[in-house]
Amino acid sequence: MGPRAAPLLPLLLALLGRPDPRRAEGCDLQPVTAEPPITLSYATSTVPRGCVSSSSLGIGHEVHILSIEWSKASVFPLKVFVTPRAGGCTQSPVLILLCARCSATVTSLCPNLIIHTDAHLDQGMTAALGPELPVAANEGQLLAWAQDTYRGITSYSKLRDPRRIQLRLGEDTSSPLDCIPQEHFDATLHLEAEVFFYGMKGCSLGDAQSTRAAHIIRMQPMPSSIITEVNLSLSCPERAVSNQILILQSQANLTWSLSVNNCHIQFLVSGKYKITHMSSQLLPGALLPDTEQGLVAKALEMNCSAIASYSTIPASTRISLEILDHETVKTVPMIPTPPAPTVNSMPSMLLLMLQPWKCTDETMEIVIDRSHLQPIKDLVNITLRDISCQAEKNATHFMLRTPLSHCGTSLEDRGHANNELILNLAQGAVPQSVRVAFKCKIPRELFLRLFPTDNFERPQTELEVNKEAFVQASMRWEDHPADLQLKECWLAVPGREPVLLVQGGEARSAGVAVLEGPPSSHGRKIWRFCFTYAVPEDGRVPFSATLKCKAGLQNNTIFEKVLEVTVKDSWRPLNSRGLGLAAVLGITFGAFLIGALLTAGLWYIYSHTRPISKLQPVSSTAPASESSSTNHSIGSTQSTPCSTSSMA
Ligand SMILES: *[C@@H]1O[C@H](CO)[C@@H](O)[C@H](O)[C@H]1NC(C)=O
Ligand SMILES: *[C@@H]1O[C@H](CO)[C@@H](O)[C@H](O)[C@H]1NC(C)=O
Ligand SMILES: *[C@@H]1O[C@H](CO)[C@@H](O)[C@H](O)[C@H]1NC(C)=O
Ligand SMILES: *[C@@H]1O[C@H](CO)[C@@H](O)[C@H](O)[C@H]1NC(C)=O
Ligand SMILES: *[C@@H]1O[C@H](CO)[C@@H](O)[C@H](O)[C@H]1NC(C)=O
Repeated sequence: MGPRAAPLLPLLLALLGRPDPRRAEGCDLQPVTAEPPITLSYATSTVPRGCVSSSSLGIGHEVHILSIEWSKASVFPLKVFVTPRAGGCTQSPVLILLCARCSATVTSLCPNLIIHTDAHLDQGMTAALGPELPVAANEGQLLAWAQDTYRGITSYSKLRDPRRIQLRLGEDTSSPLDCIPQEHFDATLHLEAEVFFYGMKGCSLGDAQSTRAAHIIRMQPMPSSIITEVNLSLSCPERAVSNQILILQSQANLTWSLSVNNCHIQFLVSGKYKITHMSSQLLPGALLPDTEQGLVAKALEMNCSAIASYSTIPASTRISLEILDHETVKTVPMIPTPPAPTVNSMPSMLLLMLQPWKCTDETMEIVIDRSHLQPIKDLVNITLRDISCQAEKNATHFMLRTPLSHCGTSLEDRGHANNELILNLAQGAVPQSVRVAFKCKIPRELFLRLFPTDNFERPQTELEVNKEAFVQASMRWEDHPADLQLKECWLAVPGREPVLLVQGGEARSAGVAVLEGPPSSHGRKIWRFCFTYAVPEDGRVPFSATLKCKAGLQNNTIFEKVLEVTVKDSWRPLNSRGLGLAAVLGITFGAFLIGALLTAGLWYIYSHTRPISKLQPVSSTAPASESSSTNHSIGSTQSTPCSTSSMA
């Protein structure tokens, strides 16, 4: 899950100090003035203003004042829960709730709670008749009034946009004598509130390159924070909407626990995270920038064309996020959805979150841990769009590996391979299937593969001594495929000088031949060559070697790739698996190989007396220890251009 390979272009552009031209206009975050696309609230015990005091000790009751302010009318009734502290309910606690023009529900575990409020109370609760509450009083007047009326104040908290308040009763002898309000007061002792966040910003690129939108929540770091876990509950509208991404940024040592309800959404999370109800496994997060600009850039990099919401909230242990319908309907074209989306949405949501696909420029691989699929009951099999491509399964995984040219994969979408996962379920009598369309990103990088034969079919990471090896380098560069060239390839063996095999499209070492690759398609360029690695003169065959190639654009932008291979020394004179050579030369071959081995030794000595770049192919420079007829055979064998060479 998460981005498997960072897109290369923005990185390149960043290195070159150039803005990505596609995004040149940028995305300028502005406060969301219209209806916000999300409802966001978070838990906090820090109130804009508040105080506690011990002035109520000994007056027979404790007095708590909650003064509520609204940035905008809330459609949710305010819920207040009153709980006693360890000691149980004290005598007649008093709650003064100032919340003009709001409706509230007060639930108290202490039956003797006296409530004075100007709010409209739900559910038949009645406010106590008592001293008239001061109307439109400022904070000083309010506190003075409470002090006069009740002879003491236990706590005072001013809250903005609360959704829910939990008030803990109890008096403290250690509190100051007078209740003198302070800004950003830590009211942990008495309350925890869930407050709405309305300060979200947004922007849109307006270039309509994609309909993808991002929601970003950035949690401010707290220097002395003891928060290690955040529970985020996410819910989405009934209509299945995809093409949104949720970016959660926090201090990296935080664990996010996501409880997701009916959402098709991709996550990008800093720190570790898990998705409850699905798996208790902790998933590694991504490293996310901790600035507004950085996060917006990240979203644009993920191909979003709009930041639907950007919210910066204080550190919190519980966040609730609801993505609303109206925005998604506006930004995402309506897709005809099957009649019962909720039945199918869970499997597709799960897969879209797991993102079990991984692509190279040539292959698509899908690996799904079966334990992640436990929530999907009665799963029979998994196929791709072409149903003959069925995933294999072992005890722990579902697996499917296919060339991009098979199984109904489409490459029309630049930089992506598109296909569908089809989950066949045996629900009840009627078998059902769930189709999940997905896009698999093809990394913009150079790929190197080593093959034992010239059919270039089964790559391996084993280099067999004295046997032809076929190398393929390839890369997708849709912008200008013609621009991309293979610059050079080297073979390096530990403790020996690296050997230049190919440079500028030409063989640069004995025993190397450049082969013609297939024509490029869908912006993919392919280069091929072959070589033979002979036993070094000292007879010590190394365990490993590295093949390193560089491709580049005309303007010095270089893509480099290293392929580690193990060296296998199981050379046998007649290897029937080998390519043409044995078959073509038949009986004379054995004799030739003995010659070739001798040649290899001599060539090695030779190569140390001359600069590598001046090396000539074995056949023309080696002393003639083989017969001229064998020599002729090598030259005339079209299918085996790679003669034996020795590596320095
Ligand atoms: C971005 O996404 C849109 C549609 O979702 C697609 O058409 C476009 O090719 C994508 N662009 C890139 C650079 O991935
Ligand atoms: C998060 O939720 C889990 C399960 O619902 C709960 O056990 C845990 O205490 C919660 N963590 C916080 C920080 O609220
Ligand atoms: C997958 O399962 C479905 C439902 O049982 C069945 O109809 C289909 O033939 C299976 N597909 C393959 C490729 O086995
Ligand atoms: C099943 O296959 C996966 C992927 O190839 C592999 O990682 C895993 O070890 C295999 N499990 C078993 C029990 O063989
Ligand atoms: C090199 O060319 C590529 C496209 O061909 C372009 O994206 C990149 O910006 C260029 N780099 C420099 C340094 O000019």
